[in-house]
Amino acid sequence: MKPMDAEQLREYGHQMVDFIADYYKNIENFPVLSQVQPGYLRQLLPDSAPTHPESLQDVLDDVQAKILPGVTHWQSPEFFAYFPSNSSVAGFLGEMLSASINMVGFSWISSPAATELEMIVLDWLAKALKLPDEFLSTGQGGGVIQGTASEAVLVVLLAARDKVLRRVGKDAIGKLVAYISDQTHSSLQKACKIGGIHPENIRVLKTNSSTQFALSPEPLSEAISQDIASGLIPFFLCATVGTTSSTAVDPLFALGKISKSNGVWFHVDAAYAGSACICPEFRHYIDGVEEADSFNMNAHKWFLTNFDCSALWVKDRSALIQSLSTNPEYLKNKASQENLVVDYKDWQIPLGRRFRSLKLWMVLRLYGLEKLQAYIRNHIELATKFEELVRLDSRFEVAAARKFSLVCFYLLPPKSNEEIGDKLNHDLLDAVNSTGKLFISHTVLSNRYVLRFAVGAPLTEERHVLAAWETLQEKASDLLMNL
Ligand SMILES: Cc1ncc(COP(=O)(O)O)c(C=O)c1O
Repeated sequence: MKPMDAEQLREYGHQMVDFIADYYKNIENFPVLSQVQPGYLRQLLPDSAPTHPESLQDVLDDVQAKILPGVTHWQSPEFFAYFPSNSSVAGFLGEMLSASINMVGFSWISSPAATELEMIVLDWLAKALKLPDEFLSTGQGGGVIQGTASEAVLVVLLAARDKVLRRVGKDAIGKLVAYISDQTHSSLQKACKIGGIHPENIRVLKTNSSTQFALSPEPLSEAISQDIASGLIPFFLCATVGTTSSTAVDPLFALGKISKSNGVWFHVDAAYAGSACICPEFRHYIDGVEEADSFNMNAHKWFLTNFDCSALWVKDRSALIQSLSTNPEYLKNKASQENLVVDYKDWQIPLGRRFRSLKLWMVLRLYGLEKLQAYIRNHIELATKFEELVRLDSRFEVAAARKFSLVCFYLLPPKSNEEIGDKLNHDLLDAVNSTGKLFISHTVLSNRYVLRFAVGAPLTEERHVLAAWETLQEKASDLLMNL
């Protein structure tokens, strides 16, 4: 067997690229949301692995016939659920290159280019976002690519925890308090769980529609004062720019000031909306990021970089390293011992790491910042268009102020029967998603079940948005007529 024969790679690679190109060409023909039932695949595949080799064509036939029906097509132009998870030719080629080189860049010596390119590309992106210089790798800080925003928040939470515990002693872990809002992504709760933060010491501060679901500085200040008075130790605040439910933006500057004056680590989660901040007109959403200790955005969401690529920057890399470094004999080397290099294994949970900077580098180089800005603007314009359509139909209501490319909306129940509002919207969601023509998701805002329409798939054009709205209107008419 020759598992990595260059000529076979060339032949199969061409065949695979053709298959993938055809997939993208025909992607609109698939139902966006997979319509299969749980367990469908077990009935279609054999019980055990083949003893003898099969042909690539046989495998691709199975992908077409058995796998693709069970795929929800995130790259479909009619995918409007959750937040987008972009792919692009540049991102795809970067992934391909990364898979080809297939090195494991845990420390600088294990593949110097992987570490150095990651540092450079994250400096580029930091500059495009106009992050403060302290986040650049040329100072005490720097950027690192994590797999997901969840890993990013976990590692900074661990760094913040250990920084405080070094000062107050390990036994005080039960006194550490983290602050979030009721709109903060659930990954923060998970990070607290893993980090040993007492569940009772997670302050989930309430937001409401009067602040457009943003966290107000006053309740934070009050909660911190109360906790200090009770002998507890505030240590971590997570603010969000572009919350998952409704893309609310927390006031970074005011929250950051409170954090700083109380010695609290301030993390900014801009997983989705961070990408928009490369546009000068949207950069103001992260004003105040200069107060943050760490900042995160997912290039794999809305920045054309294939999953996974979550960019995290910290101002003080030593805090991360002190928390996460290990130094086993088998990894010792001159460059690391002499402190000449960055070893990214000490900035993340796993040891092994992929050459992910290649795809971000490809995206930045093959598109350039101007085109990337235009890409973001186009989605925001399409979302604005959708929002206008919702407003023009008196049966609907826009349920939260739109800032980026997400529109939250609500089908109003009849005045005489308002209590069926949640069910009506739930039914509308099911009705449109089961058509296979589009896929949207939902959230709950101010105790109401509302629908989310997130524009952001790379292939989405105005005609897709208009068609989606037509389907929504049609299904809404059916539901209202049958009440
Ligand atoms: C605001 C926000 N933070 C964090 C996350 C988690 O992202 P990941 O899947 O990269 O962990 C999401 C996911 O949508 C998000 O919207």
